[in-house]
Amino acid sequence: MPRLFSYNDFAGGSEIVRSYADKHSPVVICDGQANYNQPFTVKVRIGKTVKHPNSQEHHFRYIQLWNLETLVGEVKLKREDYGDDPVHIEVPFSITPKVSLRLTALAYCNKHGLWKSEEIFVKVLGIEVD
Ligand SMILES: [Fe+2]
Repeated sequence: MPRLFSYNDFAGGSEIVRSYADKHSPVVICDGQANYNQPFTVKVRIGKTVKHPNSQEHHFRYIQLWNLETLVGEVKLKREDYGDDPVHIEVPFSITPKVSLRLTALAYCNKHGLWKSEEIFVKVLGIEVD
């Protein structure tokens, strides 16, 4: 089982340590409510405020979006699509919710491992009960 890092693991560190954690942390961006069985867009951005390098030797490889233990989306990143400068990579996902969501993103840096976002709760309105 790989270690999973999160911003909060480093929040008490120095400015340099917090910057390191910031640029590796995926952030889930979406509304707090969605409609039952309707397409719902969720964006994941890597880096709270600090851009991550995007060089040949050091870059992110993929982003996954999870609803609790269910994988709801995955994007394999092509480094060259984002240039050679530090960048906030941002990827949209579309999901069609049938239950309320507890979303977490994971992102993998080839030098610094697997990072998780904070969990975001999305209330789904109009859930039909059989
Ligand atoms: Fe990194």
